[in-house]
Amino acid sequence: MSDPAFLADVLAGFSQTPKHLPGKYLWDEAGSILFDRICGSPDYYPTQCEMALLSRVAPAIANRIGPRATIVEFGSGASRKIRVLLDTLHDPARYIAIDISGEYLEASLRTLAGDYPDIAMVAVRADYSRRVDLPVGRGEGLVLGFFPGTSIGNFAPEEATAFLARARDTLGPSYFLVGADTTQDEDRLVSVYGGCGGLMEALHLNILSRINRELGADIQLDAFRHEARVLHEPFRVEAHLVAKQATTFHLGGREFAFTAGESVRTDTSHKYPAEAFRALAGKAGWTAEESFVDSAGFALHLLRC
Ligand SMILES: C[S@@+](CC[C@H](N)C(=O)[O-])C[C@H]1O[C@@H](n2cnc3c(N)ncnc32)[C@H](O)[C@@H]1O
Repeated sequence: MSDPAFLADVLAGFSQTPKHLPGKYLWDEAGSILFDRICGSPDYYPTQCEMALLSRVAPAIANRIGPRATIVEFGSGASRKIRVLLDTLHDPARYIAIDISGEYLEASLRTLAGDYPDIAMVAVRADYSRRVDLPVGRGEGLVLGFFPGTSIGNFAPEEATAFLARARDTLGPSYFLVGADTTQDEDRLVSVYGGCGGLMEALHLNILSRINRELGADIQLDAFRHEARVLHEPFRVEAHLVAKQATTFHLGGREFAFTAGESVRTDTSHKYPAEAFRALAGKAGWTAEESFVDSAGFALHLLRC
């Protein structure tokens, strides 16, 4: 059975000018597997920068958080980065992983649980673009929220503030560690977000595969190519699927047409400078305790409420 919300969002997105699809629909099992391969690509600097920075600052964070913490990750994916925190925090009690990509979430958590048998693991399949309530109460130690992967950049400024406010409701009194890419090098951004050995194109075309498979559309995938575009105010990289030639398809009893060169936006990555990010967090009721920034401009912000 197809998801009515998915169909409604896709019909609305293809009916608008310019066309766009919500990026959250990139994430089914195939999308998650592709992203994990992107993280392993030597071109994809955000993962390399964030892993190195996280390893460097984790001991300071561990001292601040203390023993028996509960860690809550938003958009946990392969649950790789969390290993740095689980290895460094003092006797962490619990890891709660939230992700929209349900099968992949379950499989990732099973692998992690095998390696950390003393830490309680809870999988929460949920969409964090809405309010998320945790299925368990507060534990004995402090709560540390974790939002890596520069996923905060997928939100426009006012959406980012709304997300951070919702996360405050989900976490209650807590710390929140958020990864944000501040890179402003346009050539590098176009090359990385448009490349990674064809994996970026595969990830974005996956949204059309999903629409065909789950919603019964007949989109010709090879009529589209992927392109990364840098835009300003606010500074961001957009992912587009561009029609190589005029093409039509059917979805939900309607016909949709693309002219040659017309595109549909499939995701956005805002690059928030540290000061701009702290202002968004402040509006959402968080206090910025400390910002750790590496020499390439990648930041981990530790917030508190
Ligand atoms: C860019 S990946 C980051 C994965 C991992 N945290 C990392 O840093 O490598 C984004 C993750 O967030 C999940 N995600 C995207 N949108 C989401 C949403 N609206 N609600 C819940 N999870 C979402 C995806 O399934 C994916 O696992």
